[in-house]
Amino acid sequence: MQILDGKELSTSIKDELKNKVIKLKAESITPGLAVIIVGDDVASHTYVKMKESACEKIGIYSIVHKMPSDISQEKIMETIQMMNTNPNIDGILVQLPLPKHIDTDKILQTVSPDKDVDGFHPLNSGKLSLGLDTFVPCTPLGVMKILQTYEIDPKGLDVCIVGASNIVGKPMMNLLLNEFATVDICHIHTKDLKVHVKRADMVIVGVGKPNLITVDMVKEGAIVIDIGINRLESGKLVGDVDFEKVSQICSYITPVPGGVGPMTIAMLLENTIKSATQRLENA
Ligand code: GUN
Repeated sequence: MQILDGKELSTSIKDELKNKVIKLKAESITPGLAVIIVGDDVASHTYVKMKESACEKIGIYSIVHKMPSDISQEKIMETIQMMNTNPNIDGILVQLPLPKHIDTDKILQTVSPDKDVDGFHPLNSGKLSLGLDTFVPCTPLGVMKILQTYEIDPKGLDVCIVGASNIVGKPMMNLLLNEFATVDICHIHTKDLKVHVKRADMVIVGVGKPNLITVDMVKEGAIVIDIGINRLESGKLVGDVDFEKVSQICSYITPVPGGVGPMTIAMLLENTIKSATQRLENA
């Protein structure tokens, strides 16, 4: 069994990105990321701080717009529109989830597709489903980078994705389909999860339920990608897979922490630099 080390990979990617930022700055372009966070969800604030600090470390300018939970939809949209036209901003990210009174779809559609570094705009998810070049959501993009680095070719593999969210499951499905994997996608209404997981050469899970994937569900020699992040009452951070037991029978596995998580942030930086590079090319 081999550990898929996302921490180490993300460090080397960030080193490369740092050099790209230096080159962009030599052309008078400082990549810029605007983050919008609404309300005071503790986990969301932690993620945003991590994104901010990652930007700073590699020389990306970042600005965080913190808004109270009772802010109006219009005010959020106004801020996004301001960032859409701000020439110093290459990427706009709206941290999810948003409060219940806000129409998330409408907010995400307000972000200019050219600055949509999360890849959540319908134009960009449409492009992804057609296999066209676009901004790809960071977590599934991070998974593809891990597979590429460890020379795991999805072509012809039976892949079972557990979790059908717009952020992870659906873009993951498109990325793998574009690489000619056979993709099976499970969700909360799936009748018998084990039947689907058990036949898969690769299992990708991200639903936020500790120990959802137990050793009896996994085929021997399968590749296991764990996108879940759960904090147990003890304070310990775990994924959705019973790592201790599953790691004894699989071929590859991502740990939590240190697997997909660090890759998500590295891909956000990569998408921001991709956007800044397009700004340079269009100048
Ligand atoms: N909330 C959970 N994951 C994500 C993500 O990848 N991007 C944003 N914007 N919000 C999230």
